[in-house]
Amino acid sequence: MNMDEAVAADEETLTQRRGSISPDAYYRQDVLEQEIDAIFRPSWLCVGFKQDLVQPQDFITTQIGPHSIVVQNFEGELRAFRNVCAHRFARIQCAAKGNRPLTCPYHGWTYDARGRPAGIPMNRQSFGLNDADKDALALEAYALEVVGHFVFVRMQAEGCDLKTFLGGFYDDLLHLSQMCPDRIEAESFEWEANWKLGMDNAAEAYHVPMVHPDSFGAILSMDLDLTTEGDHSRYTGGLRDRSLKWWGAVAKAVELQRSDIYPQYGNFLIFPNIIATFSYGAFLTFQTIEPVGPQTLRLNNSSWLAHNNGRAARDMVAETLTGFTRQVREEDQAICKVAQAGTRAAALSQRPVLGDMEARIKHFQQAYVRHMPPRRAT
Ligand code: FES
Repeated sequence: MNMDEAVAADEETLTQRRGSISPDAYYRQDVLEQEIDAIFRPSWLCVGFKQDLVQPQDFITTQIGPHSIVVQNFEGELRAFRNVCAHRFARIQCAAKGNRPLTCPYHGWTYDARGRPAGIPMNRQSFGLNDADKDALALEAYALEVVGHFVFVRMQAEGCDLKTFLGGFYDDLLHLSQMCPDRIEAESFEWEANWKLGMDNAAEAYHVPMVHPDSFGAILSMDLDLTTEGDHSRYTGGLRDRSLKWWGAVAKAVELQRSDIYPQYGNFLIFPNIIATFSYGAFLTFQTIEPVGPQTLRLNNSSWLAHNNGRAARDMVAETLTGFTRQVREEDQAICKVAQAGTRAAALSQRPVLGDMEARIKHFQQAYVRHMPPRRAT
């Protein structure tokens, strides 16, 4: 091969390494609106946890772009609706979670399990609505399914069931739930970054030595195996000796019951917006990344510990683990802000360069492109 041929070969390799998403897709409002319609509305989205919906009248809410979703317990039956009152469009449930009937705080319309405004204050004097009218005013209902801890909702009426959507990840979520029943934290954070940038960051370990040298980098071996299934993907690999030693002592102290399917490290990316990380077969960090605006994401973070003896040492272990996840999260938040700022300055013709250690970003971006309509001109 002469010099020109070598350069051409390098260029071809570089071309093949390019990602699929242009810089402006990380900050344009019209792109986000397309993503909501083409990706978020048809997908099964995890909106919360079964543990928060145990009692009658328990509810949770989630905001996906402009869409507010409420899941409500009606005497043991979980139902999901568009969280907007049929009367004059007030938000019905205003907190992230709680326990109250599905009653609008403005004028008190109360909705039943079918989403009908069954209770309307002063109906006879003010509206005279009959049963057929109430049927017509029913809230838009969304598909709802539960696997393990996780409550999933699909906004779009038509679509496959949850098991089909998740494929083999359905059994993974069931297994993780069975192995890790002890929730030790659940919090939400807003970051100055596009939701895809958060997913890109979570999809690869290439940044770990630079961004997390004293936290994640100290425990994770960089030798990870990638498997893909449809739009979703899974990394498995080993923990460093130092981490295994620490976990070994913890497992003994609190009598952890470990998974033998994922005994060291498993990281699951469920398209479009779930990242679950499973360490030592005993500690699960489950995250969803939701679009708030084109340059703002919401990270919902929860951590779960395996069956344990519940003694005092459990609280110390929980404190150490939540401190660790906080450090990693804050390091990621800071670097995502830096990367988000860069997208505004990048030339529109640029595409990211993705190395072998970023193969999962490539997979994520290819899935993204498959779902999105062809781009409109700016
Ligand atoms: Fe909900 Fe009036 S806006 S009852």
